[in-house]
Amino acid sequence: MPALILTLETTCDETAAAVVDDELRILSSVVASQEKLHAQYGGVVPELASRAHVERIYPVVQETLERAGLRASQLAAIAVANRPGLAGSLLVGVAAAKALAVALRIPLIAINHLQGHIYAGRIAAGREIFPCVGLVASGGHTSLYRCRSPLDFTLLGGTIDDAAGESFDKVAAMLGLPYPGGPALELAAHGGSATAYKFPRSFLKEERLDFSFSGLKTAVRYALAPQGSQLPKPPLPEQLVNDIAASFQAAVADCLIGKALQALRRERLKRLCFAGGVAANKTIGAQLNTACEQHGIELVVPPPALCTDNAVMGALAVERYRAGLFESLDCDIVPGLER
Ligand code: KG4
Ligand code: ZN
Repeated sequence: MPALILTLETTCDETAAAVVDDELRILSSVVASQEKLHAQYGGVVPELASRAHVERIYPVVQETLERAGLRASQLAAIAVANRPGLAGSLLVGVAAAKALAVALRIPLIAINHLQGHIYAGRIAAGREIFPCVGLVASGGHTSLYRCRSPLDFTLLGGTIDDAAGESFDKVAAMLGLPYPGGPALELAAHGGSATAYKFPRSFLKEERLDFSFSGLKTAVRYALAPQGSQLPKPPLPEQLVNDIAASFQAAVADCLIGKALQALRRERLKRLCFAGGVAANKTIGAQLNTACEQHGIELVVPPPALCTDNAVMGALAVERYRAGLFESLDCDIVPGLER
């Protein structure tokens, strides 16, 4: 009888749970999105996010167990993403996980949310993907990892300002596109020219494995309105929106692809896992695929539903379960990214 693990995910604005077994089979997965709640503010409001997690965590856990046809007493362990993320959001998941672990007298496992994003690639591939370089591009992070094994990740670099997904969301807002901006901007870009505007690609020619997207965001702003003047009020002319969207997306793609290839070269690795919400972008994915083919790199990208936040990526906990890596009940949240 395989051991069953309940995984919880509340790092940002999705309340999610999944049941996985120790052979990495997914028995059920539920994601309660808070997208509508935050859309009216054009971004995630941390206080609203944590309150919504409090309301949703119990029903989401119930539904996840029901869909798997399980009773809580059949679980062998509880896993939770305890870092990085919004403090108030993380606290809800960690408190719920601890309560379940105590009530059911089963072990508690903590995972890193960004490493979970990369592990979604392992689940999607259905076979080993380690060692590899992991590139996570999401609304909160843009990070490059050396992934030696599922238990051995080293951070190689990351954004020094905005995250890639955050820059999509902010540029989309300037263009009058709906929140979250990534999918809407990708759609607009289909009708535009990627060479209409020449936007900056920060650090691309430098050795460092870091990203910076705030200059790109400012360049878009100045393309829309000269310095010192107000942004035009939407709706903007459709061709302008499409051309800026396509040119902006091309700049983000060049930075992500350029740095991923640099990391692969430096680490002498031949496999790349591209994960996180921005990895749901098909245009960037196709360009990355071409670059990887040219360089003899095997590319792993989870399907869109496993790129954005979910609890299936918490299956990383299975690796910790097998290794007996459990947490005590004073296990805490870590909102910031550990270097
Ligand atoms: O991984 P995720 O669901 O949550 C975080 O951990 O942040 O990522 C959400 C981010 C948002 O910024 C969203 O705009 C972006 O991923 N995103 C996309 C696309 N789909 C989602 N960005 C670009 N193209 C997309 N198709
Ligand atoms: Zn995420």
